[in-house]
Amino acid sequence: MRTIIIAIDGPAGSGKSTTARLVAARLGYTYIDTGAMYRAITLAMLEHGAPISGDMLAEFVAGLNVELRYAESGQRTYLNGRDVSERIRHADVTSDVSRVSAIPVVRTAMVALQQQLARQGGVVMDGRDIGTVVFPDAELKIFMTASIEARAQRRMAELGSEQNSFSVEDIAMQLALRDEMDSSRDTSPLTKADDAIVIDTSGVTIEEQVERITALARERIAIPA
Ligand code: CDP
Repeated sequence: MRTIIIAIDGPAGSGKSTTARLVAARLGYTYIDTGAMYRAITLAMLEHGAPISGDMLAEFVAGLNVELRYAESGQRTYLNGRDVSERIRHADVTSDVSRVSAIPVVRTAMVALQQQLARQGGVVMDGRDIGTVVFPDAELKIFMTASIEARAQRRMAELGSEQNSFSVEDIAMQLALRDEMDSSRDTSPLTKADDAIVIDTSGVTIEEQVERITALARERIAIPA
């Protein structure tokens, strides 16, 4: 049976990662969270402190080692050999990640890494530009959306007590800001690929989403290459 690439794009809080992880588990595929990679680069820059630009930036990014490893507990993100899976979800990284991921040398490096990780196929990859830039020939492309209210409610439920000083309105504002930055940048903006299937998840359960995407994937897998 052939293995395919499933690209899931969409704005923050649309349910991409949870859905992608479950679809991958059902199909026996590997889930690749590209947002975690941009978050790891953002953390490296925050820890570096001083602003870096030009050739120094290219050199800095080339010197970073971002890895996704798979443990019992799920996917873990490593930066230069250090497990940063929890750290990259903190508010400082979240509020800077859209700025960092708009930098062309950062994107070039991450896209190359993502293409290499999926060279064998059999992956579900989620992000903003997977169906448009990373894998424009992916066999199945999904664009997930949801109302800003539904996305803010979900994000609120996901956040641990570390960030519980935010109200749903704060979170909605942060999401809207990130959507705006991700959609308006010059390099690989968040946009729906022409051949992506749009799934609005506002009133849909995770189980239904997973079921629908898995069924679409099985159809594609059955088609000879
Ligand atoms: O999980 P959440 O929806 O908060 O976002 P994420 O998937 O972790 O992605 C964090 C940020 O990384 C996004 O807001 C984008 O700025 C950037 N990103 C990107 O530019 N391209 C991707 N393929 C994935 C993420």
